[in-house]
Amino acid sequence: MKLAVFCSGFGSNFQALIDSIEAGKLKAEIAVMVCDKPGAFALSRAKKHEIPVLLFDPKSFPSREASERMIVSALKSQGVELIVLAGFMRILTPYFIGAYKGKILNIHPSLLPAFKGAHAIRDAFEAGVKETGVTVHGVVEEVDAGPILSQVKVPVSAGDTVETLEKKIHEAEHKLYPQAVQDFIRKGLK
Ligand code: GRF
Repeated sequence: MKLAVFCSGFGSNFQALIDSIEAGKLKAEIAVMVCDKPGAFALSRAKKHEIPVLLFDPKSFPSREASERMIVSALKSQGVELIVLAGFMRILTPYFIGAYKGKILNIHPSLLPAFKGAHAIRDAFEAGVKETGVTVHGVVEEVDAGPILSQVKVPVSAGDTVETLEKKIHEAEHKLYPQAVQDFIRKGLK
């Protein structure tokens, strides 16, 4: 199963996927890491693990769809079957979602449908909830919606700060995402 992982930043979930593949738990190959930010630390991770990179500058395209047409054509020519979004901070157009219909996964740091959006951990912390968590879901046109594939709860303790909560959430993500991707592949192959 050939994957493309999409990242814009630190890439710790990308790293968790790499580690899981290298440990033989996630039966997949990362054919390419797609990135829209030249300064992303995820690029160093790809280099270290000799994973090909498709780095693009969104501003050099006349529209979002034009950049996606280039990406889709590159991915299809490499035989990429599954898209794994891992901290990719761009909203995909209906064109891209149609090109990989039902084959795009995302991870979000809350128990969706609660706390959608780019600041989910902080928003949950400020709302004073007793538990939050992590969701892996299929990507549809509506942002942070789509079928939920897997969730894990993370308790918020009395002594937690946003930073300690973030750390717990990220640890939960790094366990959940490789497992959820492997489950999705297994079910898809049946
Ligand atoms: C994660 O919290 C993920 O849930 C969200 O973006 C963050 C990416 O972190 N979609 P990283 O780049 O994988 O470290």
